[in-house]
Order: sequence, then C-alpha cells, then structure tokens
Amino acid sequence: MTPLLQAEGLRKRYGDREAVAGISLQAQAGQILGLLGPNGAGKSTTIAMVCGLTTPDAGQVRVCGHAMADAPGACKRRIGLVPQELALFDDLSARTNIETFGALYGLSGALLKTRGDAALAAVGLAERAQDKPATFSGGMKRRLHIACALVHDPDVLLLDEPTAGVDPQSRNAIFDTLLALKAAGKALVYTTHYMEEVERLADRIVIVDHGRVVAEGTLDELTSRLPPRPEPVRPPPPSRASLEDVFLALTGRQLRD
Ligand SMILES: Nc1ncnc2c1ncn2[C@@H]1O[C@H](COP(=O)(O)OP(=O)(O)OP(=O)(O)O)[C@@H](O)[C@H]1O
Ligand SMILES: [Mg+2]
Repeated sequence: MTPLLQAEGLRKRYGDREAVAGISLQAQAGQILGLLGPNGAGKSTTIAMVCGLTTPDAGQVRVCGHAMADAPGACKRRIGLVPQELALFDDLSARTNIETFGALYGLSGALLKTRGDAALAAVGLAERAQDKPATFSGGMKRRLHIACALVHDPDVLLLDEPTAGVDPQSRNAIFDTLLALKAAGKALVYTTHYMEEVERLADRIVIVDHGRVVAEGTLDELTSRLPPRPEPVRPPPPSRASLEDVFLALTGRQLRD
C-alpha cells in the first residue's frame, strides 16, 4: 500500500547550521507515526517541510501520491497542521476561528458550518463554540488548535507537541480524538517529548537527533535493541496503580472545560 505521506532525504540549512540533514519518513493510512527527538533535533523543521511551509534544500515530499514540488495545492489540501506554537485568533469565537481556517481551504456555506460543527464536536468543544480562546484554559486552546487543523477533513494530520501544558483529562481527550482519526484511516505524525505518549499511541517510531534519523521501528523493535534492564532489587507489585490512575480516580475523567 502506498503511504499517504512519503518524505525522502529532506535537508534544510539555516546559515552554518544544518537543521535537517537527510530525514526520510513515511506514514500509512490508519497509522500514527511518533517523531521523537531532543530539543533542536530538527522535528519542527521537518514538519514545516512536510506540510509545504518551508521549502527543503533537498529531498521531496509526496502526499496521497502528489509531489509537493509539482502540486503544492493538492498536497496542502490533504494535510492538517497542528503547529508547536499556538496560532489562534484570541478575540474571535472558537467557531469563527475554525471557520476562518476552513475558509482558507476554500470551504464555505453549509459545508463549512457542518465541518466546523464536526471538528468542534471531535475535540469536545461543541458547547463552547461561541466563546473566545482568550477565555479558554491551556487544554481547551490545544483542543481548538486540533479542531482548526481538522476542519477541511485532511488525510494526513501533523501534530507538533499537541499536548504541551495540558492536564491528563484533556490529554486523554486528545488521544481519543487521535485514535478515532486513526480508525477512520487518517495518517498521523505525532511529535512529542513525552515517551509514554509515543509508547501508547504510535504504531511506528522515528527517533531523530542532529537532523538525522538515528533509529526507526515499532516500539518492540526499538526496545529490543538494548539488553533487558537488570532485575530491580525490590520490584513494585505488578497491580500497583500509576499516579495518573490515582489523579484520574480523584478528579474524574470528565473534561473540565
Ligand atoms: N528559522 C530558523 N532560522 C535559523 N535556525 C533555525 C530556524 N528554525 C530552526 N532553526 C534551528 O534548526 C535546528 C532545529 O530546530 P527545530 O525547531 O526543527 O528543532 P525541534 O526538534 O523541533 O526542537 P524542539 O524540541 O525544541 O521543538 C535548531 O538548531 C534551531 O535552532
Ligand atoms: Mg519543535
């Protein structure tokens, strides 16, 4: 099966600094690709090239069979981007924010309204459609950010640290949204510093450092590269709850806002 997203040999230099030095990655329909790397590894620059915001010095991107260099419009219409930095209009309502992004993709009229409603519902913000992001919590802003990237119903969704600064309730709601998109056959690329998020979500993982891919594979393939850890002196009981279990048991799983 041809991957929905194929990036081959991407390179980008800023002055003397080689931000990306030959990164290739692929994302299949119905898969979540975890993109991991330390600060400055080149993840956001890679995402920017994949979605056509930054022109690569070398390499190519194909989206749903179209080459970004030859058919940027066709590629960009099939991509949704959730950038690392929040990019919302704070003084426009959540609905107007979403409809503004939808209009940029050429949606209008009843279709724009329907897609906007679906995107708001997908992130649990239907009740807050008329409110402005200036009045939202960090988790709500992140969820609205995702909704803005979904309004044109993209085949490929790129998420650059979408859970930065959100509580476990919002993070779990975001995961549910992403897993529903995966089940609907979308290809997702998910960038984060939280290893447990990638362990939980990703079908395949690409680890980058200094602008290069240093490892890729499934979680099992990657973790079997190292020898097993030595037995702990006193292993914790296997049924022990995690701190998140306790937190959620006390505060509930309901979204707060
Ligand atoms: N517009 C730019 N001009 C100059 N240098 C840049 C620019 N964008 C990124 N860089 C540099 O390129 C390198 C990769 O940056 P990038 O933002 O892609 O890393 P990242 O993996 O997303 O890091 P983080 O985890 O901190 O978000 C860094 O050294 C950064 O300073
Ligand atoms: Mg980044």
